[in-house]
Amino acid sequence: MKFDFFHDNIFAPFLWVILLQTIAISLANLSGDVQQSALYTTRWSARAGFPIFLIAFGAGAFYKLSKNKMSASLIRYRRQWGLAFAFSHAIHFIFILYFLQVNDRPISIENLGAGLIPYSFILLMALTSNTMSMHLLGRNWQRLHWIGSYTIWFGYASSYFGKMIDIKTLWIGLIGTLLSFAIIGLRIIAKYKLKA
Ligand code: HEM
Repeated sequence: MKFDFFHDNIFAPFLWVILLQTIAISLANLSGDVQQSALYTTRWSARAGFPIFLIAFGAGAFYKLSKNKMSASLIRYRRQWGLAFAFSHAIHFIFILYFLQVNDRPISIENLGAGLIPYSFILLMALTSNTMSMHLLGRNWQRLHWIGSYTIWFGYASSYFGKMIDIKTLWIGLIGTLLSFAIIGLRIIAKYKLKA
């Protein structure tokens, strides 16, 4: 069988993360001001991870709704897409630390605490994304990954929803909120279709 770089490549999810994060960080650093670029790199590193999350979270639904080479590849490498998302969010975390270093009192304790919950799930999900953990945890593996993925979804949806309040970030907030709900809609349709 002929090797197809885009559909048969186990490293493709990680290459996408490297590409998106490189573009995001380069764009964020266009401003010469250190505090501004710390804010923008933090913001853009989260933004770059969003399409990767949507792919990992929606892979099953995409496949159920349309079976083709692309969706088959997404489902085959779903574990890699999940790990690539964890990698991408580790980059967001590095920029959060950078942001904290260059700003005096920038993040409230509540925000920090709320953000650490999805981060704990990201870590647990990444550590258990292997066949041995799946066997060891049994049904709890599915529970962990289900709760974890919806917690991450909530992290994105609530961040983008909050951005709609400010006129300066209305558009990105609206786009992010719509995409967050669209992926939930897609998952519901796929589930319903499977039962029909
Ligand atoms: C301790 C944990 C976290 C801290 C301290 C943190 C901090 C930040 C900061 C300072 C920004 C830039 C400010 C802004 O754009 O308004 C940001 C942006 C963002 N973060 Fe995080 N974050 C954390 C975890 C997370 C998690 C777990 C998610 C998602 C699951 C997330 C999603 C986002 C999103 C969506 C944005 C805005 C991106 C955009 O404008 O497109 N963050 N975060």
